[in-house]
Amino acid sequence: MSNYLKNNSIEDSAPAHSLWSSRLAFVLAATGSAVGLGNIWKFPYITGENGGGAFVLVYLLCVAAIGIPIMMGEVLLGRRGRQSPINSMLLLAAQEGKSPRWKLLGWMGVAGAFIILSFYSVIGGWATCYAGYAVLGEFSGATADSIGSLFSALLASPVKLLIWHTVFIGLTILVVARGVRSGLERAVKFLMPTLFVLLLVLVGYAMTTGRFLDGVAFLFTPDFSKLTTGAVLSAMGHAFFTLSLGMGVMMAYGSYLPQDCSIVKTSIIVSVMDTAVALLAGLAIFPIVFANGMEPGAGPGLIFQTLPLAFGNIPGGSFFGALFFILLVFAAWTSGISLLEPLVEWLEEHRGISRLTSAVAGGLAVWLLGLVTVFSLNVWSDFTPLGMFASFEGKTLFDLLDYLTANIMLPLTGLLVAIFTGWVMSRSSTREELGLENGYGFWLWRTLVRYVAPVGVLIVFVYNLS
Ligand code: TRP
Repeated sequence: MSNYLKNNSIEDSAPAHSLWSSRLAFVLAATGSAVGLGNIWKFPYITGENGGGAFVLVYLLCVAAIGIPIMMGEVLLGRRGRQSPINSMLLLAAQEGKSPRWKLLGWMGVAGAFIILSFYSVIGGWATCYAGYAVLGEFSGATADSIGSLFSALLASPVKLLIWHTVFIGLTILVVARGVRSGLERAVKFLMPTLFVLLLVLVGYAMTTGRFLDGVAFLFTPDFSKLTTGAVLSAMGHAFFTLSLGMGVMMAYGSYLPQDCSIVKTSIIVSVMDTAVALLAGLAIFPIVFANGMEPGAGPGLIFQTLPLAFGNIPGGSFFGALFFILLVFAAWTSGISLLEPLVEWLEEHRGISRLTSAVAGGLAVWLLGLVTVFSLNVWSDFTPLGMFASFEGKTLFDLLDYLTANIMLPLTGLLVAIFTGWVMSRSSTREELGLENGYGFWLWRTLVRYVAPVGVLIVFVYNLS
């Protein structure tokens, strides 16, 4: 039996890693992970593409019925294992008398977070670059053409993308290298409250555009005729991504959660806050979009093309535009940190190397893989290695990495988490770790994680692959 199995039994009260100093620290860090480009960039544009209200309603249902139970499952696995996702799975499987192959679940998480970070960092780099543009007043008096060429010039330039990708990874390493308490915790304690304030200021600003109520109506009036099957499935997929599930991130963060903090309560708080930020981002963005006679369904370019144009042409736009992109960088940064953490935690315990070395080595490796995304956007944009298969036609290497993680690894890991916590672990182990009585609450969690979540995830999985 290897060392970590011997040394870290559940009874062992001194865990190998340090713990969050309080429940608040965990909640801020996990919310920081969940709140990211997914909330501020992706949620508004997929809501726009899918017609608003009805889509939002389905998304909320998915968060409640699938997202929250799986999040509880991931945090539970992390805290019970008290190690990186890989070693935690090894330990827990051994304790339950199950195959050590369950560590593959941990492996997929660590590998998936690694791959996601490689392209997340490139997009985080766009955000950082745009924060710079906004501060320098690049958007003022902009036209649709000038904004369009600003965006395409960025994507067309490997050098620019590389610089901003490097800046973003650098910021991420900087925090992760300092460790759980003086790095992650200190960063989120400053960044998250600032992010909330900035967001509220922006919503206040959106109220002055004269089209605020249209934004509200767009988000909250369900028109079920606009709800396609595709919309339902993308709502479910997004619920997963936005809560940072299926990639070992919540397991890693859970492994630092003090024993006396309630997994149930904290998971609910984190999910509610994540959802609140997505909705507030919608309330900040759509009124500005409508006030400028723009289309909510503009797609991925919504915040990089539509919004700068709007900010460039309304009173106070340069100031609020700068605030907006700074907010975006903060949100992406706290998510980037969480995506590096599972790998660093594993490197630390597996090789016994210091956190500084693990963070730098891990970050460098992510940076290297990020080059694939950087070049896919320009010099390799015609390189579509799987183009001979119909479903991968026209997909660049970047698209393939995105596809592999979002459509395969993420749902698969999520499914395995649901199966492991719902079916493989004993009822009493999960109940004990969740700190629940043998009552309605536990029954509800177990039903959701055993039946509802796996079926939901399987449907998305199969649909996305076909
Ligand atoms: N949840 C983040 C967002 O909404 C992205 C993210 C961070 C993530 N960690 C993750 C997605 C782990 C999947 C898995 O932008």
